[in-house]
Amino acid sequence: MKISHLSAECSPFAKTGGLGDVVGALPKALARRDHDVDVWLPFHLEAAQWYRRRLQWPVEATPPFDVSVLGRPYRVGILKGQLPHGGVPVYFVAHDPFFHRPAGIYAPNDSGMDDGLWRFTLFVRAALEAMRRIGRRPQILHTHDWHPALATMLGAWSGWRDRWFDDVASVLTIHNIQYQGIYPPDQFPTLGLPDEVRAGGLLDFRGALGLLKGGLEAADIITTVSPTFAREIQTPEGGAGLDAILRGRSDRLTGILNGIDREVWNPAHDPHLSALYGASDLSGKAECRYELLRIAGFETADPGMVVGAIGRLVDQKGFDLLLEAAPELIRRGLRIIMLGSGEPALEGSMRLLEKHHHGHFRAFFGYDEVLSHRIEAGVDALVMPSRFEPCGLSQMYSLAYGTVPIVRKTGGLADSVVGFDGTNENVANGFHFEDPSPHALAAEILRAQHVFFQRGTWYRLMRNGMLVDNSWENAAGQYEAAYQRAREVRGLPW
Ligand code: ADP
Ligand code: GLC
Repeated sequence: MKISHLSAECSPFAKTGGLGDVVGALPKALARRDHDVDVWLPFHLEAAQWYRRRLQWPVEATPPFDVSVLGRPYRVGILKGQLPHGGVPVYFVAHDPFFHRPAGIYAPNDSGMDDGLWRFTLFVRAALEAMRRIGRRPQILHTHDWHPALATMLGAWSGWRDRWFDDVASVLTIHNIQYQGIYPPDQFPTLGLPDEVRAGGLLDFRGALGLLKGGLEAADIITTVSPTFAREIQTPEGGAGLDAILRGRSDRLTGILNGIDREVWNPAHDPHLSALYGASDLSGKAECRYELLRIAGFETADPGMVVGAIGRLVDQKGFDLLLEAAPELIRRGLRIIMLGSGEPALEGSMRLLEKHHHGHFRAFFGYDEVLSHRIEAGVDALVMPSRFEPCGLSQMYSLAYGTVPIVRKTGGLADSVVGFDGTNENVANGFHFEDPSPHALAAEILRAQHVFFQRGTWYRLMRNGMLVDNSWENAAGQYEAAYQRAREVRGLPW
């Protein structure tokens, strides 16, 4: 099958979270299964910088051309690079005024305006036009989250005008239902969709335009990134306003747990670590721990448990619960290392804790890929107190690195971590708690701390985690089945 992925992020070129990791890895796993796969991505400033750092540059895939949005021509360039390890082609859509944003890939324009609908309309239109020009029409158009959802809509609602879509089936994956691409209704003409789509109210979301909503109505098959999250988003509590639509399309919805990229996240050959290790010899992990404690300014000889937390500092991740519980945990001998950036209030609390608990609480701010690997390897346990979590990758990296995850039992965290209940040490690899409160979180961390000092049991949990097969192979097989189904519901041959 010819499969094209359209996404706002793709690691290592542009990433703010797990979306980038998935789009950087799933296409490679599909290519290993003999599919003809490519990835389409805006040429963000980050991608240009990635190439510059390596003294390289992607090649021109086709001469620049104009794309018309709302009757105005925009000149775009199409560049071609490839994913490291495996050579999957990546086509970049270049238009600097839209994608060259020093403040980050989702930053507003110079006037502070969120021009996302314009930017991603240009991205989708340019990508589809470039596919025509270079003769790469996909049989599966796989869009990720709301940003490229217009491609799905064009396939569904322009199809009868544009025979190009005759052999194309679409799959839309929800990575995060909280970000939906909501814009004022007067921006509808920018999308360039047929008028009957507006009349049918297919993008109407609480009086505004909802791009994710439109994509979900249009996609042949919808996937999300864990089976539990697929159930949660069909409930009023978990659906972020889209639950009724998802319930209505439940026969088209499936949850596929993400994998991890073992070429990038593997303690046996991770170039960011000070020592390498594997399940049969954990001595390298002790060295990574020593090095991390040194970087954090902690006492390296202290044998007490060190927990880490990595992620975007947003409400979803529940880090406020950890920050509230921190003074009590520190009193009980725990040390905490956090890495993240986001909401200023959370950053402020982290700074305060660091000031008052020097040597026991260390906060690193900003986005730091290398440090994220060192923390995954160097801490004893990783905390993810998420209020909701579609899948979560950090806990899967922890499992692979022999770091025991302590997670709230929700979404993909519930599906990927087997909680220790005191009796199941032959299968358990982490700790679960249910109630999203500092108290419940602290109680579970202290329970983990107790087990941490029963070294035999703790090693069992570490090893169980390291032996879990979270590679992409399994998930890629499930995506294949979803693609097959998408072609089937569209009446197309596989
Ligand atoms: P989400 O996609 O919701 O952010 P995931 O757990 O799926 O959550 O993925 C987060 C990814 O982003 C992981 O690869 C994690 O290491 C990375 N990450 C998050 N924040 C940072 C940061 N400040 N520095 C480096 N990596 C980060
Ligand atoms: C989202 C989710 C996260 C998931 C990631 C990749 O950003 O918040 O849980 O792991 O996408 O699918």
